[in-house]
Amino acid sequence: MVERIHYSTREQREKWIQEADYNLFNLRSDQVFIDLLTDSGTGAMSEQQWAALMAGDESYAGSSSFHKLQGTVADIFGLQFLLPVHQGRAAENALFSVLVKPGDIIPANSHFDTTRAHIEYRKAAAVDCPEDVALNTLVDEPLKGNINLSVLRKILEEHHEKVPFILLTLTCNVTGGQPISMENITAVKQIATDYGKPLVIDSARFAENAWFIQQREHGFRQRSIHEITRQIFLMADAMLMSAKKDGLVNIGGFMATRHQDWFDAATEHVILFEGFRTYGGLAGRDLNALAEGLTEVVCAEYLGSRIGQTQRFGQILIDAGIPIQRPVGGHAVLVNAGSFLPAVPQEEYVAQTLALELYVEAGVRGVEIGTLLNGRDPSTGRERFAEVEFLRFAIPRRVYSNEQMEYVARALINLYFGCPGIVHCGRKANLETFYCAFESQRAEVG
Ligand code: F0G
Repeated sequence: MVERIHYSTREQREKWIQEADYNLFNLRSDQVFIDLLTDSGTGAMSEQQWAALMAGDESYAGSSSFHKLQGTVADIFGLQFLLPVHQGRAAENALFSVLVKPGDIIPANSHFDTTRAHIEYRKAAAVDCPEDVALNTLVDEPLKGNINLSVLRKILEEHHEKVPFILLTLTCNVTGGQPISMENITAVKQIATDYGKPLVIDSARFAENAWFIQQREHGFRQRSIHEITRQIFLMADAMLMSAKKDGLVNIGGFMATRHQDWFDAATEHVILFEGFRTYGGLAGRDLNALAEGLTEVVCAEYLGSRIGQTQRFGQILIDAGIPIQRPVGGHAVLVNAGSFLPAVPQEEYVAQTLALELYVEAGVRGVEIGTLLNGRDPSTGRERFAEVEFLRFAIPRRVYSNEQMEYVARALINLYFGCPGIVHCGRKANLETFYCAFESQRAEVG
């Protein structure tokens, strides 16, 4: 699907952002030129997915679209019990209704904010156990999303009774889409087995993680994405899926498990809050498009091009000396806003400040991943200051051209060096040139 992009002037953007109370979420999408707020549900579907959509079976119960999705999930992940839901956080809610009780502790490499919120909503604690290097933006570790095994062991040792399961988030979103190694997942499974604990995988970007394992971990070059995925999920007791990422659809999610008792208990929750267990708040056509999306996403060529785009974008910034999280992750580039704007104090939300500056400069929308996102501590009401204040640029799948991503990079470079139109790296970073290039392309396609 091709969509119009919307041009604007700096004067318009200054007015719009003021009207939006300096909150980028309050902008209308046609006030944004390049939208990198999220890679969630913002991708473009393939022609095969659009065709699958037309063939959706809208029966209330037992639709053939559900059975198709069930077959695909069983084939890719090896998990036979499937509950579709409207998106990832609904899967979290359904599974946690079965597994999480007040006082529990859930250790993970990192929790996404909805996952954390669903755990805290049940009066339990979400504890992040990243490797020490995870937030050191300068350390170029190839598989930087790993969980810290000794911290995990310590939690299990000290709070054994309170831990209902271990959670792994693939890839690690909050540190920029950093992958977890197969070695780390295998070690976590061994620890889980030693302590008699189940392993749950937040799988939103599972295919991107599998691609990094194939490319970066010793011994996996000859293994297909499908084989690597199967090997990962053989170790999982259940998976949570926001299909809006690696499901390649605009809405949808699911929970899948190998345990019938978890499935039966979660089904009751899903029927109350989502819908009957064979559609879970989705239309039959959505289930069909998702089944097709899952088969497309486990393709190494697709993943190479998708992650390649993110890497290329990141490399332009690295070459210009912009402080970003290294190495570049799968779905996003994270700018270290604290280093970018060292004069702005943390209590003034430094990454949000940078996000606003960039919007006014170039019409580009990113998102703050820092103190603002962390929210306040529910017990003390105090600010939870982020270790690193990040501005995230998440790249929608199959949407923007590399030239458009280069425009974003140039805009950031202009801000960094404080002088729009400056000659930098031997190239004139004049945003007007990019605008003109897009205008002439638009004229060509009519
Ligand atoms: N888990 C991870 C790792 C996520 O990144 C997200 C969403 C969710 C769960 C929740 O899924 O949105 O379908 O309910 N991440 C989006 C983002 C919103 O922008 O990173 P959801």
